[in-house]
Amino acid sequence: MAGNYFGSSIFCEGGAYHSKMASNLVSITRRGFGETTRRGAWWLQSLVTFLGFSAFIVYSTWAAFQGNHYTFGPYLSPFYSPEIFGMSPHAWFGSMPSWIPSWLPLTPAFLILWAPGGFRFTCYYYRGAYYKAFWADPPACAVGEPRSGYRGENWFPLILQNVHRYFLYIALIFIVLLAHDAWKAMWFSDGWGIGVGTIVMTINVILLSGYTLGCHSLRHLIGGARNVLSGRPVQKKAYDCVSGLNKRHMMFAWFSLFWVGFTDFYIRMCSMGIFTDYRIF
Ligand code: FES
Repeated sequence: MAGNYFGSSIFCEGGAYHSKMASNLVSITRRGFGETTRRGAWWLQSLVTFLGFSAFIVYSTWAAFQGNHYTFGPYLSPFYSPEIFGMSPHAWFGSMPSWIPSWLPLTPAFLILWAPGGFRFTCYYYRGAYYKAFWADPPACAVGEPRSGYRGENWFPLILQNVHRYFLYIALIFIVLLAHDAWKAMWFSDGWGIGVGTIVMTINVILLSGYTLGCHSLRHLIGGARNVLSGRPVQKKAYDCVSGLNKRHMMFAWFSLFWVGFTDFYIRMCSMGIFTDYRIF
């Protein structure tokens, strides 16, 4: 299908010359699914995104269903932190309350994972990535997509993505909680020390902080309602800092995603006796 982007009535009053000029201005051709004039492996990025996200979703879902091996000594898996109800010494309020039906396959992870999960799911970077990789909308820039209509994010259900700012508030609290976990990971039964697990958990907090503090919504929050800086040095410094992290948002998104999964894996392997957690101090 080919079409002229400009309405002919705008140009026809001026005569045939303008009409002819207008028809030469912009011509849009709708491509079939996957059609493109791009050369090279334009599909590679979407494929890697698809495989990376899928691997994380499968692993994190599996780990959340386990309900065991999520602690080792002072270490607590980030998939289970904060442990609101649970059997480990890290639990805030003891074991699961009796009013929760026992047939529900509910583990401490399910009580909290909706928050970091929702934060990532609604992230501006991730949206761009998984719309392409999972929905082919479009498969890549300038590549034909499998649908003709476009509803964007102004309509239900994607308008719900605007809840991202509220997930950010919760994610900031999680950073504090995970930093506290990393601090507690230095206190072993025989006193203060640093194990490999302490370092793994600390790197996790650093990467998650880099990701969370580079959030677009945080940038807008610091910029104020109109996204205008007041000129106060503190605000400018904070804005520059968040902007700097925001430039590397994709990098932090991937590194933190991988590392949070690895942190759970490391603690799980130690708890199962497969890894040995070496003490450095
Ligand atoms: Fe990615 Fe907010 S935009 S975390």
